[in-house]
Amino acid sequence: MASDSQMVNLALRDCNLVFEGLESIVDVGGGTGATAKIISDAFPHLKFIVFDRPQVVGNLPGTNTLTYVGGDMFKSIPEADAVILKWILHNWTDKDCIKILENCKEAISSNGKRGKVILIDIVINEKQDEHEFTNLKQLMNVNMACVNGKERSEEEWKKLFMEAGFKDYKITNLTGLLSLVEIYP
Ligand SMILES: C[S@@+](CC[C@H](N)C(=O)[O-])C[C@H]1O[C@@H](n2cnc3c(N)ncnc32)[C@H](O)[C@@H]1O
Repeated sequence: MASDSQMVNLALRDCNLVFEGLESIVDVGGGTGATAKIISDAFPHLKFIVFDRPQVVGNLPGTNTLTYVGGDMFKSIPEADAVILKWILHNWTDKDCIKILENCKEAISSNGKRGKVILIDIVINEKQDEHEFTNLKQLMNVNMACVNGKERSEEEWKKLFMEAGFKDYKITNLTGLLSLVEIYP
């Protein structure tokens, strides 16, 4: 997963507008912090929390701008202006995704602020995608079905966002395989 984060490195560095106006971000299921460090290097004013299971982040040293916090995204998520979910929701059922998204909404709505969730995941779009990308996404879908997850179309994602209480969203192509979806309360 850390190698994958290196692959999206360049793509994320071009996403100035996505991070504009934000002061703090929590990367939920952020592993050992590969994605957070890449974004932090490009946007050094941001305060980052890398949130993952205690056994993943427990002994990792932080920096001035990056803190590791252990916990469970199904219980609660630390407060921030934005939440990143990269390669997380495709692992989970619709019911689990709605619970995670509800907890994200609570994390970004604290202090009366109106933050956003930044989802980085696959969006199946057979009409727009090149044939090779559709094949790869469908192959990933079969893989994820083995762990009760799935790859989702825009309609399937939209249903989850609305059921979790979000009002709007915007999809941007990130790498061909991955999309970046900004989700607003
Ligand atoms: C597929 S990895 C994605 C890692 C990272 N976002 C990336 O793109 O490289 C899923 C991550 O979710 C974390 N995770 C699983 N269950 C969790 C939970 N209940 N609360 C917080 N993190 C969890 C795992 O430990 C793992 O680091």
